[in-house]
Amino acid sequence: MQINTSLVFIVFVSLIFGCSKEISQPITPQIIPTPYSQTLIEGVFTISNKTGLTFDEEFSVAAQFLKEYIETGSAISLKSGTNIVFEKDETIEDVEGYTLDVFPAKIRIKAKTVQGAFYAVQSLRQLLPIGLENNSFTKAEIAVTCVSIQDKPQFSYRGMHLDVARHKFSIEFIKKYIDALAMLKMNTFHWHLTDDQGWRIEIKKHPKLQEIAAFRDQTLIGHFSDNPQQFDGKKYGGFYTQEQIKDVVAYAKNRFIRVIPEIEMPGHAQAAIAAYPELGCTKEPIKVAESWGVFEDIFCAGNDSTFTFLENVLDEIIPLFPDQYIHIGGDEVPKAHWKTCDACQKRIQDENLKDEHELQSYFIQRIEKYVNSKGKQIIGWDEILEGGLAPNATVMSWRGIKGAVEAAKAKHDVIMTPTSYSYFDYYQSTNPNEPVAIGGYLPLEKVYGFNPIPIGLPEKEKSYVIGAQGNLWTEYISDSEHVEYMAFPRVIAMSEVVWSTELNKNYNQFIDRLEYFNKRLDALNINYANHLYEVNGEVKMELDKIYTFHLNTLTKGKTIRYTVNGLEPDSTSLEYKLPLVISNSVTVKAAVFNNNKRLGAVFSESLNYHKAVGAKISLNVQPHHAYPGSGAYGLINGISGSNSRYGDKEWLGFWGEAVEIIIDLGTETEISSMSTRFHNGNGQWIYAPEQIELIFDDGAVSKIEIPISEELLVDVLVEKIIKTRYITLRIPNYGIIPDRKQGSGNPAWTFVDEIKVN
Ligand code: ACM
Ligand code: ZN
Repeated sequence: MQINTSLVFIVFVSLIFGCSKEISQPITPQIIPTPYSQTLIEGVFTISNKTGLTFDEEFSVAAQFLKEYIETGSAISLKSGTNIVFEKDETIEDVEGYTLDVFPAKIRIKAKTVQGAFYAVQSLRQLLPIGLENNSFTKAEIAVTCVSIQDKPQFSYRGMHLDVARHKFSIEFIKKYIDALAMLKMNTFHWHLTDDQGWRIEIKKHPKLQEIAAFRDQTLIGHFSDNPQQFDGKKYGGFYTQEQIKDVVAYAKNRFIRVIPEIEMPGHAQAAIAAYPELGCTKEPIKVAESWGVFEDIFCAGNDSTFTFLENVLDEIIPLFPDQYIHIGGDEVPKAHWKTCDACQKRIQDENLKDEHELQSYFIQRIEKYVNSKGKQIIGWDEILEGGLAPNATVMSWRGIKGAVEAAKAKHDVIMTPTSYSYFDYYQSTNPNEPVAIGGYLPLEKVYGFNPIPIGLPEKEKSYVIGAQGNLWTEYISDSEHVEYMAFPRVIAMSEVVWSTELNKNYNQFIDRLEYFNKRLDALNINYANHLYEVNGEVKMELDKIYTFHLNTLTKGKTIRYTVNGLEPDSTSLEYKLPLVISNSVTVKAAVFNNNKRLGAVFSESLNYHKAVGAKISLNVQPHHAYPGSGAYGLINGISGSNSRYGDKEWLGFWGEAVEIIIDLGTETEISSMSTRFHNGNGQWIYAPEQIELIFDDGAVSKIEIPISEELLVDVLVEKIIKTRYITLRIPNYGIIPDRKQGSGNPAWTFVDEIKVN
C-alpha cells in the first residue's frame, strides 16, 4: 500500500524533536528517488563505536559498502553484532526491492538479492548526515531518524548514457559518474564509445583504430551554426585500453550498474573508415570528423569484409562486457553512398531487398545474428525499425515515442529516451548566461514530468517498456565539470521517473528534497546546475484586457525582489507580492533573496506592450507537440523568444506544415508596422521561409520575400500605415531539406517568434 508520506510526517515531527540528539540532518527523510512507501516511527537509532553489524556472506557487497561509508566518512568503527542486520527475505517480490526498518534499537535491512540490499543502503545513506560524504563528520555518534521503508523500482532499466567519442573523459571521472548513478539507484551506464569524431575503445586486432580513429586533427569551436565556423587547430583524442574498460566494468558491477557498450554502425562510422578506408563505399581516404552532425561516410553494406571487420571488433568487445546487451547504434544513416555503390546495389539485388532502408535492416539483422550467436542481445536506436526490425532487438526510442509504440506493438522491448525528455545536452534554463549547448530546451520540471509509458499504449503492450534513460551527447561538453553541470540535476529527476511510481511523484516535494540533496552534491564535489533560485515570469491577460506579469520561484520561504528601472535588483529593491500590472513596455529584473542575500541569477524580461498584445489569435495548425511555446497566444504576449533557445516558451515550432496565423485586434486599429522573426538554425533542421504573405482588411495579399540567409535569426519588418482589424500571416514551409545538409530528405522545421504590431 502506498502511504501519503507528507501527512504521516507532520504527526511525528514534534515527537522526534523531543528526543533527538545532535541531528544535523532533516527530521523527515528526503530520499531521492522517493521510495514506494515510508512511514516515520518514533525515536532515533544511534550509530557509534558500540554499534555492531551482521550480514550473510551473500549480502557482503551491500554491507561492506555501508561499513566503509560510515568508517571512512566518520571516526566511528563498527563492530560485529546485531544492531544493524542484513537479512535475506525470499518473500520480497522484486529482485531489486528491499525493506529498511530503522528502529530505536536496531536497523534491519531485508532483501531478496544483494542488489536490493545495496539499494537499502543507498536509502540509509540519505538518512545519515551529509558530512559522511566528504569525511567531515567528526562526532562520536550518528542519530538516524526512525523510519520504515518498503521500496522497489518502477522500471527494471534505469539508465544514463555518456558520449565519450565527441569528447573523452578520464577513467577516474567515469567512476565518479557511476558512483553518482548508483547513489540514485540507476542500474545502467550506456557508454557511447565510437562515433565519427573518435573511436575510444582498444581493439587489438585493428591497431589503426588506436593510431588513427582515436584522434582528430582539430575540433569545431563555438556552435555548429556559427558563421563562419571556427576550429581550434589542436589534435584531440585518445582511447580506453581493454584493461581500463575491464576495471570500469568491475567497478560498476560492485555498484550494481551494468555497462552497455555502444559500437555505432552502419552510420556514425567516419573515424573507423578514416582508419580503414576499405570499410566505406568509396574506399577513398577521409579524415576523422572535426565537426558535428551526420556524415555520409558509412560502413559499406556490400562487402563481406565489412562484416568480418565488425565481427572481429565484436569478438573483442563481447568478453569485456558481461551484460546481456550490446548497443549497435543504427541511428542517422544517410544512404547517399549506398545508392551509388556497386557492391551495396549488388547486395540489394542478391538479397531481394526493396531499397536502402531494407539494406540497413539487412545490415542490422546480420549483426544481430552474430551477436545472438555469442549469447548476447542487441539494442539499436529507433531507426532500426526502418526496413524491418531485427527479430530479437531491443529498441531505444529517441525520435519521440513513435518508434517505441511501433516496437512494443511488435512485442519488442523498448527503452525510452525521447529527445523532448531525455536529452540532457539541451539547454536547461532560458538564462542567457548558460554555457553553449546544442539547442533545444529541457528544463528540470519537464524531465521530472516524464512518464515513460507512452499515452495510449494498450495495457498488454506496456510491459514491453522496460525503462528509460537520460542521454548526454558531448559535442558541446569538453570537460567533466560541464558533464556534471548538464547531467545534474536532470539525472536526479530521471532517477525518480524510472524508480518511483507516478502516484508518489510530486514536483514541489521533489524540489524540497533536491534543495537538500544539493548539499550532498556539494560534499561530493559534483558541479550540478542550480536553477532552483531563479525567477520565472509569466504574462497573463486578466479580464478587461489587464496585462499582468507574475513572478515565482521554486523553493519555499524565499523573497523575490524586482526593479522596473533597468537596475539589478538588490536587497533594497521592491518585494514582489502581487502580479505587476503592465501598461507600457518595460523591462522587469528580479532575483531571489534569502535574508537579504541574493541566491540565484538575475532574471530579466522585456515586455513589449504592442498593439496585438491581448488580441485574439488563431492558427490553422497547432505547433508540434515538442515545441508548443505558450501556444498561439505566445505569439502576441509581448515577450520575444530567446536568441539561442528556440525550444523556450516563446518560439512556436511547426514541422513541415504551412502555417496561417490570423490576429483579430477586436476593432479597426491604425497600425504602422508588423514585425516578427524566424529561426534559421539549419544544423537543427530549422529553415526560415523564403517568402511569406500578409493580408489586412482590404484583402490585398502582400508577398514578402525573405532573402536566403546564413544568419541564425531572420528578422522580418513590414512598414505600412493602415487601418485594419484583422492581420493574416501565411507562412509556407521551407520544404524538404536539400542534400548535404543536416536532416537532408526530411521536411524542414519552421520556428516563428513574437508578432509585434505597432
Ligand atoms: C541520436 O541522438 N542520434 C541517437
Ligand atoms: Zn557500399
